[in-house]
Amino acid sequence: MDFKIKPLSHYVGAEVTGLDLSKPVSAEVKAAIISAWTEHAVLVFRDQALTPPQFAEAAEIFGDIMQQQLTKFLLPDHPKVGTISSRDLPIVDGKLHVRGENYHTDHSNYAEPPKATTLHAIALPDQGGDTQFVDVRAAFDDLPEDVKRKIVSLRAPHVYESSQSPRKMMALSDDERAKIPVSLQPLVIRHPVSGRAALYLNTGRMEGVEGLSSDEGFALIDELFAHATQSKYEYRHKWLAGDMVIWDNRSVMHQANADYDPAQYRYLYRIMLNGAPLQPVSL
Ligand SMILES: [Fe+2]
Repeated sequence: MDFKIKPLSHYVGAEVTGLDLSKPVSAEVKAAIISAWTEHAVLVFRDQALTPPQFAEAAEIFGDIMQQQLTKFLLPDHPKVGTISSRDLPIVDGKLHVRGENYHTDHSNYAEPPKATTLHAIALPDQGGDTQFVDVRAAFDDLPEDVKRKIVSLRAPHVYESSQSPRKMMALSDDERAKIPVSLQPLVIRHPVSGRAALYLNTGRMEGVEGLSSDEGFALIDELFAHATQSKYEYRHKWLAGDMVIWDNRSVMHQANADYDPAQYRYLYRIMLNGAPLQPVSL
């Protein structure tokens, strides 16, 4: 099959055209897209029209589907596939309250956070609702050597909702909350396939830094977060109908935007892929 892979920004993101993921892909195609994904961290497959089972199969090219703990957003007939719908979102002060509206990496409080998240656009507003990504590998590479040395062996506790979280997490029932884990994660992680080092940050869930005072820990997190979210590390995805986007949660942070008309329908399928315990880096 004649398909093309084209980078979408300097550091992160590549567009794949000419590939129909509703059909199984060959071993050769699979190897090519996994290699491109490892390098670019975000792949955008254009012009797809996938049913939920086809979307699940496309996701499985990259790994095994993670069982989601919050079952209320799963499709009843296809429980492997979750949904993001504007109709599920509360409106606060005339504005949609969107999950994920600051840079983060998914479920970082899990002992084995999902290695990837993928979305397939089914219905989109006329404008807005972009998803932004920043390359936390390049952000790490660019840090001064003394900062790298200082942070490379540090770890941070990741909880459901940090006391300093810039956003409110979804309210949980007592039952759901009891199942939510807390994990100590390296501040810098080694990618298991590419071997590249990356910052591992999530201001919504990090509760300081192990071994530092609360003030020092949060100050360090804020400094690294400000560095990693500079626009030079960003790819901003403007959704087109039929896009399937898959990103690597160990290589990028992402954020949603609630800047679209709440009266317009926005609906995407969502799947996360199983990860493994995060690996620290030694310099
Ligand atoms: Fe997210």
